[in-house]
Amino acid sequence: MKHFPNKLLLASPRGFCAGVKRAINTLEGLIEKNPNKTIYCYHQIVHNKTVVKDFTNKGVIFVDDLSKVPEKSILVFSSHGVSPALIKQAKKNKLKIIDATCPFVIKTHKEVKDFAKKNFKIIYIGQKDHDETIGTTDEALNQTIIVSDIEDIKSLDIPKNTQVAIVTQTTLSFDETKKLVQALEKKFPELIKPKLADICQATQNRQNGVKKIVKMGAEIVIVLGSKNSSNSNKLKTVAENAGARAYLLDDITEIDIKDLENIKCVGLTAGASLPEYKIVKAIKWFKKHGITEIEEVSAAVENNLL
Ligand code: F3S
Repeated sequence: MKHFPNKLLLASPRGFCAGVKRAINTLEGLIEKNPNKTIYCYHQIVHNKTVVKDFTNKGVIFVDDLSKVPEKSILVFSSHGVSPALIKQAKKNKLKIIDATCPFVIKTHKEVKDFAKKNFKIIYIGQKDHDETIGTTDEALNQTIIVSDIEDIKSLDIPKNTQVAIVTQTTLSFDETKKLVQALEKKFPELIKPKLADICQATQNRQNGVKKIVKMGAEIVIVLGSKNSSNSNKLKTVAENAGARAYLLDDITEIDIKDLENIKCVGLTAGASLPEYKIVKAIKWFKKHGITEIEEVSAAVENNLL
């Protein structure tokens, strides 16, 4: 007989981080204050399908190209930040800029700028095509090299006696990044690195929550979040590395019920850009499907981390 799990472990913290809340509140505030104006947002305000859809329904227009924004319009920069060239162009187009970049991302922009001023070669650990990586590395394009994995590090060819520094994307897997930093340290013993990489505390807390639920018996971990969300993808990787099967879904109804058969305990978490109502819906879904025991597993208590 096929059994459906009877126990649900809820990782905590999960869902919205302080940076995402700040970006969403910024956009909501603008809509409220400007009922008759169109608000434009450069890139998705946060990487989550549901959030973007909800704002689109409220009239916000998301663009990937400044030429689509009429002169003097209100333009919001997303939580992932933008390049200095884009800010320059937006100013040239006389746009009213509202910056919703997460302060932790701003911190890495500053690090890149500071190292560049001191003539360092900057190794940026991050996902090459991610909005955050593009925006941050553009601060000093000629002095920055992006690395995403060990292969990239092996092929690094930096002349001897070059001063080297590391900056990292804020939403990476902590354990994976640690391995990359160690490999870089071997290659460049003198390099300057951040204390614990630039991975933000919210990302680390959510990853620790996943490790904890797997340790406590979650055979499957469901990560609610969008496919283009870096931190959500990393939660899936963390769950897999801890020994569980993991799925990244925008909505709990996307799960194939067969995947939950013959499992005793399932874990649930959510990326930092997933709205709470999606988590509530998932918990209700599990209850409807016969989960009788729900346990909240806390890895950290988060106050406002900004
Ligand atoms: Fe900022 Fe970290 Fe959230 S970088 S947007 S606090 S996941």
